[in-house]
Amino acid sequence: MTVESVKPGASGATALREPPLAGGGVPVLGHGWRLVRDPLAFMCRLRDHGDVVRLKLGPKTVYAVTTPELTGALALNPDYIISGPLWESLEGLLGKEGVATANGPLHRRQRRTIQPAFRLDALPGYGPVMEEEVHALTERWASGRIIDCTAESYRVAVRVAARCLLRSRFMDERAERLCAALATVFRGMYQRMVVPLGPLYKLPLPANREFNRALADLHLLVDEIVAERRASGQKPNDLLTTLLEAKDDNGDPIGEQEIHDQVVAILTPGGETVSATIMSLLYMLAEHPEHGDKVREEVEAVTGGRPVALRDVHRLSHTNNVVVEAMRLRPAVWILTRRAVTETELGGYRIPAGADIIYSPYAIQRDPKSYERHLEFDPDRWRPERSVDIPKYAMRPFGVGNRKCPGDHFSMALLTLTTAALAGRYRFERVAESDDDLRIGVTLHPNRLLLRPVAR
Ligand code: HEM
Repeated sequence: MTVESVKPGASGATALREPPLAGGGVPVLGHGWRLVRDPLAFMCRLRDHGDVVRLKLGPKTVYAVTTPELTGALALNPDYIISGPLWESLEGLLGKEGVATANGPLHRRQRRTIQPAFRLDALPGYGPVMEEEVHALTERWASGRIIDCTAESYRVAVRVAARCLLRSRFMDERAERLCAALATVFRGMYQRMVVPLGPLYKLPLPANREFNRALADLHLLVDEIVAERRASGQKPNDLLTTLLEAKDDNGDPIGEQEIHDQVVAILTPGGETVSATIMSLLYMLAEHPEHGDKVREEVEAVTGGRPVALRDVHRLSHTNNVVVEAMRLRPAVWILTRRAVTETELGGYRIPAGADIIYSPYAIQRDPKSYERHLEFDPDRWRPERSVDIPKYAMRPFGVGNRKCPGDHFSMALLTLTTAALAGRYRFERVAESDDDLRIGVTLHPNRLLLRPVAR
């Protein structure tokens, strides 16, 4: 491991160091093979090599940030933006004009437009849909019959996001199509982002055909929803109305493409991350039945036996801690990236202009330097008297700064309600056919989780 000193660019007076090269690279491929073979373990070990380290991915140098404090500094510094090859592949699939890939003034304007739909005071309006969907999920399950957690989690996540944010008369049927399209698109998207084989993905192979059909259906569905709303002349109080009435910086209505891309950019991360988290929660409830029992007790104490409602969520503190702890150990978003627009300093190291920087919420949230018994599922670590000792930025599954997830309150409310309804009604048993290994894709979730709910 070498640490070289370099002169900073025009701005700096002190000499900044170049970050150390992480160990374990091999000739030609550098660290790429480790990142492909076992990315989670690789990211978790990087802090041993430094607070900021260089990685070689073939001929390219990428910088990895490994401490909570510096991930905060990275996310809060406007000199680091969303850009790079991964984002370009994403734009090619989902559209170029959505909030998730925009930067600068366009991003600020788009965030201002969508933010009201996600504010805390907007949440009660989503209560009836969230409650209906969550209770429909628990009603549908028959005690003792095995459930496919992937399909069930997708269904509740996508239906809630679509019905709350894009209210529509025909949303029921469309929500089912959206679920199918999004699940297929997300299965194939990660491969297309990390292995950009371009024209090879156009070959008429069954997997490519399925992916392309699902992607086309996703875009078609969004067009249908927008067209139907325009034709109806109705303006319900939802995100779609806000987008249709949004103005650009000149005061002109925003273009059709931007409306389309915005809907895609909001629905896709919303559906995928929430469903991945519900799968992880179900896994944790099966692994740790004692916490399921505690959730049930808490729900009973708060509701007195009536169906749990969104208005109860703020009183379900243990349930909330179960959700947070599941997200700590199995964050849906396991890796985040930025690009430096100019030469910058991070933790006393020089980061050159144009550098790509990565960090892993998975590694940060499992770091033994931040957490006692770091691998243990311990929801009580989030009790106020204990959580004060957890370092700042050591638990930010929704990110930090201007790119922080707008859906954080929405998601926490839905996830707490879902956990309360599920554990209130069932215990979950593991089944032998289940494949619980983590699937590493755009998000992190169990490969094919099958569980047996048993009525309490
Ligand atoms: C961005 C996590 C749910 C919409 C993000 C980011 C993270 C994240 C880590 C990126 C932060 C960064 O780059 O620094 C999650 C998790 C969720 C969740 C863990 C649920 C468990 C949702 C929901 C929606 C949503 C429900 C909408 C319905 C978005 C959008 C962005 C985003 C639009 C891009 C924001 C921007 O770039 O300004 N999310 N998210 N997310 N999320 Fe979420």
